[in-house]
Parts: sequence; structure tokens; C-alpha cells
Amino acid sequence: MGSAPAKASRAQELLALKGEYLMPCVYHFYKDPPVFVRGEGCFLFDDMDRRYLDCLSGVAVMSAGHCNPDIIGPAIEQIQTLQHTTTIYLTDPILRLAKALAGLTPGELSRSFFCASGSEAVEGALLTSVLHTGKPRIIATTNSLHGRTRWAMNTTGMPMWRTDPYPPDDVSHIPFGDADALADEFAKHADQTAAFIAEPIQSNGGINVPPDGYWQRVRQLCDDHGVLLILDEIQTGFNRTGRWFACEHFGIVPDIMTVSKAMGNGFPIGAFITTDQIAQSYTRPGASTHGGNPVNATAALAVIDYHTRHHLDQRAQESGQYLMKQLTELSAKRVHLGQPRGMGLMIGVPVINSDGEPAAQRCDLILERLKDLRILAGKSGPDRNVLTWMPPLTIERHEIGEVIDAIYEATA
Ligand SMILES: Cc1ncc(COP(=O)(O)O)c(C=O)c1O
Repeated sequence: MGSAPAKASRAQELLALKGEYLMPCVYHFYKDPPVFVRGEGCFLFDDMDRRYLDCLSGVAVMSAGHCNPDIIGPAIEQIQTLQHTTTIYLTDPILRLAKALAGLTPGELSRSFFCASGSEAVEGALLTSVLHTGKPRIIATTNSLHGRTRWAMNTTGMPMWRTDPYPPDDVSHIPFGDADALADEFAKHADQTAAFIAEPIQSNGGINVPPDGYWQRVRQLCDDHGVLLILDEIQTGFNRTGRWFACEHFGIVPDIMTVSKAMGNGFPIGAFITTDQIAQSYTRPGASTHGGNPVNATAALAVIDYHTRHHLDQRAQESGQYLMKQLTELSAKRVHLGQPRGMGLMIGVPVINSDGEPAAQRCDLILERLKDLRILAGKSGPDRNVLTWMPPLTIERHEIGEVIDAIYEATA
């Protein structure tokens, strides 16, 4: 009896369909991309039955692992019972979720608006800040990413994500991590400024952790000038950095916080949450058709339960420290890898030329080799040269060992 015929990947067929039917802006990783057909825990499987260790988690979404039965189980039950009504009717899951989120978030944050994506959460947060302060301008940071809707795109500082040729002129950008720049901007425009928006740790901008004292000073400056602080925790939230929200590392509380991604662990949900006082400024009717629908809200409640029961905050801290240590040792032995940076399981390693300059092509080559070694990583930074590690928070020690071995091989 002969062996079973080798399977053929559908990659070429799907690339042709993509080339014909998706907008050209929808780009993909890899010259030779796998076709994923299944996910389980920290792993994705392609149509050739090859197993990949997913160290990007669908961009910080699958923090509790792929197809986690403790999350999809309650969601499936909810789909079979009541799938969708929209917020003009009373349902239970959205309210239990709002209460749970108020309990998890720091300070007086207590009132939520649910939507279906991060961009919408940012858009709503910005609108709320304008309504509350009665001022039109927003200050954002260079190298930030806040989304794809018009205002979210315009607050985005990363040039590659700012496609709109006619961005509205109500947003200015200052360098991330530079509190003096914020003080200067406030000196000029505080009376016109509703909010300062930033990620606590920049993610797509290259995993940038601000200097010590930065966030405390920013909080003080915002208070002194009557400007609201919006923290975009869409990527950093839900224990990615080792705490429920990254702002907890810095001991500050924003006036408005945005969340999405890992909150749904693959179910499309986003939200902004603010204080009761600020919320009172947004009273005209607002609705998001799919926002916090019974299925997504049930999934998010199961996510919170799973993170809590499995102590994913601690796991992110411990595994993050271990991964950081291994990456630091490895980088010291590889001339083309710079110093790793990050917090918890959100770590970036710059790929550089011998002169220390960003090496985007080399980064792509390493990513492709890693993929061939069945490890999926991301890339970030304005020069697209920062290898980005954001695995599910459930990753095991020996799996981190596999990652490190693969990087040694891919950078040899
Ligand atoms: C920090 C941050 N904010 C906002 C967004 C936009 O979220 P979405 O793609 O769900 O609209 C992203 C997406 O990557 C993000 O990383």
C-alpha cells in the first residue's frame, strides 16, 4: 500500500480570490502564506496539517487561546438561545458585562458604551471628551495607532496607517513619552483642547514603554489644564502587560478608557468606559447595532471569568519575564538584533543593520524563516523592523523554549 498522497495547499487559489475580490488595502504577511483552517490553545493549523505556535494572537486578541472551550461554550449556548436584539431592548448579558467592567477598571470608571471594534470605541471616547469639555481639539502622539474610522485614523500617529489625504485639522501630534511636549502644547492650546489620547505602552508603534514618571506627569498636566486623559487600552488591556490594564503599572487612572481585542477573545466587541460625571455629558441617543449583543457580551463575561480563574495576569508577568530574559540573552549573541523592550507578554525586538539602523527587509526575512519553522510573530514600529511577541497568555515555558530555539535558527 502506498502512502497517502501529499495534501496541496489552497494558498494560490485563495491569493487569486483575494487579489480579485478584496480591497487592495487588505495586505497579508509572508511571501508564501499558510492557509489557516483550525486553532487550538496557542496553536494554529494550516491546510497541510502543519502546526504553528501563534506568538501574535491575531494581534493581541486571543489572549486566552484559540477556540477556548470555556469561552466559546457559553457563547454557543447563547447563540442557540438569543443571538441579537440590539440595545433598544433589555437583555441581561450586556448589563452584567458593564458591571463586571466597572469592577475591573481602576478608579471611578463605571459607565460603558459597547460597540463592535476598537476604532468605534476610540471614536466614541473622543466624542465624549468633546461633549464633556465643550472644546474641539485633540492631542495625540506620534507613532500611535487608534483605528481606521476618520477621527481614530487622524489621531493615529503612525504614517503608514494615515491614509486619508484630507485629515481634519482638529488633531495635533506630540512625541510619545515626552511630557514637556505636552506641557508646551497645553501652553498654546489647552483652552481649545478636549483630550489627550495615547496608548499606555505603544504597540503598533514598536512596543514603546515611556520613561519613568511620564504617565504621572501627564495625569497631572491634564488635571491642571482641564483636559481629559483618554487611554487606549485596546491592545494593552486584559492582562497583556501583566495587569488587567497597563495604566495600573503607572498608578494612574484615565478619564476615559477604550478596550476591545482580548476582551472578546475573537468575538467582535469594543467599549469605552468613563466616570459617571463625564458620562452625563453624553445623553442624546447613541446606539451601536451590534454593540455588546448577547453573544459578544456573554463571550466577554466568559473571558473575564477565564482570565480570573487562570490568573492570566500572573502568567503574563511570569512568562513575560522569562521570555524577556531569553530574548535579551539571545539578542546579545546576534548582531542584527537590538535590545528587547516591553512589559508582560508584549515584547518587541528591533532588527537592525550592522550600523544599528532599522532593517525592515531583514525583519521580513526572519519572519518568513520563523514561519517556516512554524512560529508566527508580528512586526511593528514606524520602520516595520520590530519583531513583535504577543503570544496567548496561556503559553507554557517549554513553548517559549521552542520560540527561542527558532529565533536562534532564523537569525543564524
Ligand atoms: C491600540 C489600538 N487602538 C485601536 C485599534 C483599532 O481597533 P480595530 O481594528 O478593532 O478597529 C487598534 C488596532 O490594532 C489598536 O491596536
